[in-house]
Amino acid sequence: MQKRVLARPRIRGIVNPPGDKSISHRALILSGIAAGKARISNFLPSDDCVRTAECMRALGVAVMPVPGDLTTVEVVGAGANGLHEPGNVLDAGNSGTSLRLMAGLLAAQPFLTLITGDASLRSRPMARVIEPLTLMGASIWGRKGNTLAPLAIKGSRLHGIDYSLPVASAQVKSAILIASLFADGQTLLREPAQSRDHTERLLKWMGARLSEDNGGIRLEPTGKPLLARDIVVPGDISSAAYWMVLGAIHPDASIEIKGIGVNPTRSGILEALRKMGATIRIGNRRTSEGNEPVADITVESSEITGVEIGGELVPRLIDEIPALAVAACFARGTTVIRDAGELRVKETDRIKYLVQELRKFGAHLEETADGMVIEGAAGLSGTHCHSYEDHRLAMALAVAGLMAEGETLIESAEAVNVSYPAFWQDLERVAAS
Ligand code: S3P
Repeated sequence: MQKRVLARPRIRGIVNPPGDKSISHRALILSGIAAGKARISNFLPSDDCVRTAECMRALGVAVMPVPGDLTTVEVVGAGANGLHEPGNVLDAGNSGTSLRLMAGLLAAQPFLTLITGDASLRSRPMARVIEPLTLMGASIWGRKGNTLAPLAIKGSRLHGIDYSLPVASAQVKSAILIASLFADGQTLLREPAQSRDHTERLLKWMGARLSEDNGGIRLEPTGKPLLARDIVVPGDISSAAYWMVLGAIHPDASIEIKGIGVNPTRSGILEALRKMGATIRIGNRRTSEGNEPVADITVESSEITGVEIGGELVPRLIDEIPALAVAACFARGTTVIRDAGELRVKETDRIKYLVQELRKFGAHLEETADGMVIEGAAGLSGTHCHSYEDHRLAMALAVAGLMAEGETLIESAEAVNVSYPAFWQDLERVAAS
């Protein structure tokens, strides 16, 4: 699908971005192995999360829609030993979170599972989950010397490990934590930098024994299944990021973004935009059912300047770098993004394609090995660009298109369905008012 985007003179409105993608996956998986029934509200019914729901169903978990309400699902947990061998190959589609978290779950089940994904996912690194799960006692095979999906996973009785993650990755950390629930003995994990802690928060919410240990995480199996508890998923800050950037860089904008998860391990975008000088207000702070901080965010037209983004901030805003790169095109001065080599192994090589596509608008940016350098304030001109089926690229290009002079055409615009199915409707609402 091709989308046509035009500059708008005025941006106003209230947006309610959909439920958080990371938390929706985790709520499904953890509720699926809990004892009892849980209701997940503000669930994200996007392509990626539907893949996780289908995987859990194939393992015998009842994931039930609530009639007339697309964003609520009910899950009847199978308990600690209730999953069964799936009758077919599981398909995680485009979703790295589905594949890697499921790998952790499947590594501990007494049966064989085959799991695959689309062409993008089949090119993304899997050794990072295969290695620690193998250390725990699982048998996992993958293509290209156990580095790529499809994976064959022969689960077994696992034992806890003491493991330092080589990269800060919430997917790897979560795969190990999920496997550890079923293992003999405790597991200790350390990360080089803090990644999103949604799994830890939900595990605590559901009764797991999890503690902080010298900057690391300790999980001690309780011998009991997790407790099914209702979960309300906060709005996705990664989806909100496009509106925050648009509000900050547009000369006549004011946007209120409601009910957004502002977990500090995930909300680096707020820090980065504030550091650039954006006017962002955070109000109505509360805690969700499911142990996550939530707030409303207001953003207004701002004069922004270039910044340096690197180090421990990067894992806390990794998915928002496409949006931030667009902001940097409108900042006074230079923005340098470093320590973000992980962007090269996302749904696309986001360093390569962001630089390539934003240059088509006339933006001045250079690729580096682990990030990019962006010279701002040149003004963009509409162009014909491509998302390469990457949802975050599609949405970043849409914001660029709203700010560019003339018409912008975006190819493969349907990629937004991976994380934000109503993105184009929400864009019309804020841009039309
Ligand atoms: C995610 C973790 C991050 C992020 C991805 C979602 C998660 O990936 O980029 O979009 O839900 O755990 P990594 O674990 O590869 O850093």
